[in-house]
Amino acid sequence: MEDIKKYQKAEKLKKWRDQVEPTPWYYDGLENLCNRLHPQNQLLKVTDIEQLSRDTKLFRLVSVKPKQLLAPFRAGQYIGFTIEINNVRTSRPYSLVSSPNQLAYYELGIKKKEGGFVSPYLFENTKVGDIIEATEPMGNLYYNRLFHGKNLVFIAGGSGCTPFISMLRDISERDLPLNVWMLFGCLTEEDILFRNVLKDIQKRRSYIKVVNILSEAGSEWTGESGFITKDKILKVIGSIEKKFFYIVGNRPMYHFVLDELKELGVPQHRIAHEAFGVPDDITQIMGWPVEIDTSKKIQITIDFRRYGKIEQKVIEASCTEPILNSLERAELKELEIKSGCRSGECALCRTKLVFGKIFIPPEVTTREADKNYNFIHPCISYPITDIHLNLNET
Ligand code: FES
Repeated sequence: MEDIKKYQKAEKLKKWRDQVEPTPWYYDGLENLCNRLHPQNQLLKVTDIEQLSRDTKLFRLVSVKPKQLLAPFRAGQYIGFTIEINNVRTSRPYSLVSSPNQLAYYELGIKKKEGGFVSPYLFENTKVGDIIEATEPMGNLYYNRLFHGKNLVFIAGGSGCTPFISMLRDISERDLPLNVWMLFGCLTEEDILFRNVLKDIQKRRSYIKVVNILSEAGSEWTGESGFITKDKILKVIGSIEKKFFYIVGNRPMYHFVLDELKELGVPQHRIAHEAFGVPDDITQIMGWPVEIDTSKKIQITIDFRRYGKIEQKVIEASCTEPILNSLERAELKELEIKSGCRSGECALCRTKLVFGKIFIPPEVTTREADKNYNFIHPCISYPITDIHLNLNET
């Protein structure tokens, strides 16, 4: 009897899976290569954890399947971790710091964000041997030989150094014919991450120069201090001519440095930056409709498919939280929406908005086609009226 029940359950699951992910009707022999380059997800095992500073840890992860290499990536990209905390299944993106020239393992530097949901959990609970589900590598912040030229300026704030560590490893290992200046802003000397890695790279490659700038320098610090101003940038790089700039840091740091670069006359198309992620307080973002009563509960109606049938659920949400977070918090497994960047960049969470109004931070760009057909990115969209989503339309 027990076996029959198991069989029936498996049959039901298979039917449901076939509806959601129908078996492809063609095979062209490239499926294995495609899956290797762009796996739907990767199961990773934590093999090492190292404390880098008071609030940052380094995690090394390998593929769970010993013979399977990890998906390749470009230096500067990130992977998304999908984890379950107190029955809430959610994901967060983390930049890769390891070199893309080896795929035996990935390394990530994760900073514990005070008041955060995922990073404090990873920081406190993850142990060697744990298995973590991750996305394929994603993100647009990487060196582009055609458009970025040979003179690169990396401007990093705190843990924003992580994609640059991977890029510097790549450049130094392959001895690329480039000139690189890195201005690395931190609070104190203890907050300088990967200090030895950076020292070692500079020792081996004379065309890579790293300058640490401390905003809360102690009396014994003899290096640069203060903020990353235009004067400091010019002092380090000489002139802005034929240089390409990358900025990675928190939102205030980015806006500050961007204004300094503008004053120096750096055109926008010579500046790249990483996606910002979710703001700490959406009501402080430019354009937020101040007339909204933030204490009022919003209703989200969701159409979705289960076992071939269209069903509907209504959940309560807050206008100050991204729609995706509210859906995840609702603990409805059948409502799972894929996500990666959580910044409106990767489009994995793209969802049809049937009606209702949302607020999106002004720096997030939406494709014209999505605007015309009312598709939104719930990871970075905030409901400001009751809304209706349809998860069946893609
Ligand atoms: S998770 Fe990338 S766009 Fe929403």
